[in-house]
Amino acid sequence: MNKLSTHLLEKAQTYEQSTRISVPAYDTLFAVTQAYFRAQLGEQEASLLVIGAGGGNELSAWGPTNPHWTFTGVDPAEEMLQIAQHKAAQLGLEDRVQLLQGTIDNLPSNTPKFDAASCILVLHFIEDRQEKLNLLKNIHAHLIPGKPFVLACAYGERESEELQDRIKIWQSFFLEAGYKKERVESMGKIIMNISFISAQEIEQLLQEAGFTHITRFFSSGLFAGWMSQA
Ligand SMILES: C[S@@+](CC[C@H](N)C(=O)[O-])C[C@H]1O[C@@H](n2cnc3c(N)ncnc32)[C@H](O)[C@@H]1O
Repeated sequence: MNKLSTHLLEKAQTYEQSTRISVPAYDTLFAVTQAYFRAQLGEQEASLLVIGAGGGNELSAWGPTNPHWTFTGVDPAEEMLQIAQHKAAQLGLEDRVQLLQGTIDNLPSNTPKFDAASCILVLHFIEDRQEKLNLLKNIHAHLIPGKPFVLACAYGERESEELQDRIKIWQSFFLEAGYKKERVESMGKIIMNISFISAQEIEQLLQEAGFTHITRFFSSGLFAGWMSQA
């Protein structure tokens, strides 16, 4: 089993903690996604495509409880992937997990189509609308028609008071968790660097990419999640 350096262990721990502050009900998001996939896929073997697999939380949430699922994960961040690889090894999932450093564009062209896909907490890191659409189109192209896809990301109209109000609530989660006021204030500025678009625009992108049965099933502070079918 590969060992993580102290630096990576700390990074993994920080990620685990801060994500759960940033996205209250984060674990519920994974539980509901699992339930949706199970409802759609039944008991048969299934291949899952995980976009943004770094950190390995999809693997730990769904791997042990679904022994008939295999996972192909892509993520450009080497360190986040190392953490995912370590988690897969710790959980004895190595035989069912393949991780690739890169984006969906780096999947080999002969990759068989998948039975399900997820893209959790990734889309808001992609600045350009066309690039967001390309990613969603690419995911659609890699799925067997009709199969389930779950998207979760930050949403909001950049200039709106509504988003600013939600950012204040998001900051209060960190204050309650014991983060210093100055740090939380600067986090409020940094969060504006991510690419916010409205929930309606996200649903429009999913439609343009070819997805149907689009249903918003999750909402938690700055983030929301949609189920859909290819
Ligand atoms: C906040 S983490 C989410 C990781 C995991 N999905 C989770 O929920 O714990 C965002 C991840 O998306 C990755 N990422 C950014 N752009 C990406 C892209 N175009 N394709 C795949 N992953 C990407 C980052 O490297 C990072 O590891």
